[in-house]
Order: sequence, then C-alpha cells, then structure tokens
Amino acid sequence: MKLVFATNNLNKLAEVQKMLPKTIELLSLKDINCFEEIPETATTLEGNAKIKANHISENYQYNCFADDTGLEVNALNGNPGVYSARYAGEPVNIENNISKLLNELKTTDNRKAHFKTSICLNLNGSQFLFDGICKGEILHSKQGEKGFGYDPIFKPDGSKLSFAEMSSEEKNKISHRGLAITKLITFLSKLS
Ligand code: IMP
Repeated sequence: MKLVFATNNLNKLAEVQKMLPKTIELLSLKDINCFEEIPETATTLEGNAKIKANHISENYQYNCFADDTGLEVNALNGNPGVYSARYAGEPVNIENNISKLLNELKTTDNRKAHFKTSICLNLNGSQFLFDGICKGEILHSKQGEKGFGYDPIFKPDGSKLSFAEMSSEEKNKISHRGLAITKLITFLSKLS
C-alpha cells in the first residue's frame, strides 16, 4: 500500500519508513508533486494534523497521515504549544524561539514541560487519531548538537541527557513522535 506522510522533512520520513512494515511504501509531499504550503490555521495540534491530512486526501486522493508537534510548558500555561514553530514570530527561526523560551522562564523555577505529537490518519474514507506525549523539563541552556528544533533545551524525565545529546534511535524510543508513530504502526500492521 502507498501511504503519504504529509511532510517535507526527509529526516522524519526516513525515521518513520524504518519503523513501517515493508508492505507500506511511504511517499513524501514531493513524491506526489504537492508543493503548495498547507495552512496550519487550527488552534490545536489535532486540528492542524487533520487539516494537513484532509488537504492531501481531498486534493490528491491518497491514503495519508499528517503530524503536528508542540512543546507545552507548564509555567507558560501550555505555550508555545501549537505555536511552537513560530513562537518568536516570522520568519521561523529556532534560535530565536529557544532564546525567547529561556527568557520567559527566567523568573520561575517550574521548568516542567512536555512534547506532544498528534497524528491524523485518513485511510479509505475513515479518520483515525493517535497521540504521543513525552514529559520532561526545560534546561537552563542548550546541551548537545544532535536532533532539531527545541531538542538542545529539553531533557526527558528519567534521562541525564537532553534530546540533542541522544542518537535518533535513543530519542525515538521515548519521544512524543516515536510513541505516536508506534501507535500508528501497530494499527497499520494489524491491517496488512
Ligand atoms: P512540526 O509540527 O514538526 O512542524 O514542529 C513544530 C515545532 O516544534 C517546530 O519548531 C519544531 O522545530 C518543533 N519540534 C517538533 N518536533 C520536535 C522534536 O522532536 N524535538 C524538538 N523540537 C521539535
């Protein structure tokens, strides 16, 4: 079965393809000649995942899934959350996002936070949602060079390392996306 993963992030694509049964061939947006930007206008992660998945199934007639991820910080009432990518405004810049977040937390000792990933799967006319949460804390400064996004300032509970100090295999075992993808894969594996 061909299945579109509504992403242009080749790292994410490779990460997921490795975890899928061989009967499922993963296609990227580029593979289906989808080059337009899909507006992420929802106020929840689930909502954005649905918008992206629906855009593909309605306009390209493929089975597909889409994900959306946010970093929810307790002391900031769950922000940046669904706005994680553009936290410090446009153009998207992760260094500015990280600086803004560290600055916002200067006056509090509560550094608890979690990443959340929502996945929406559109399969043969039905819709299924999966999520994954990884709890941890925001570090005082960046640690590590690996990973992407907020990884250098996030340390998952039970680990001495930040996400940016882990190999992708170590991170995937415990990460929000890894957990959500595992639920998706368990579901897909039962079908094939
Ligand atoms: P997206 O949903 O993958 O587009 O991610 C939204 C925002 O969260 C972007 O700023 C990403 O850099 C960040 N992000 C997503 N996943 C992760 C992750 O696993 N680690 C760190 N940052 C992430």
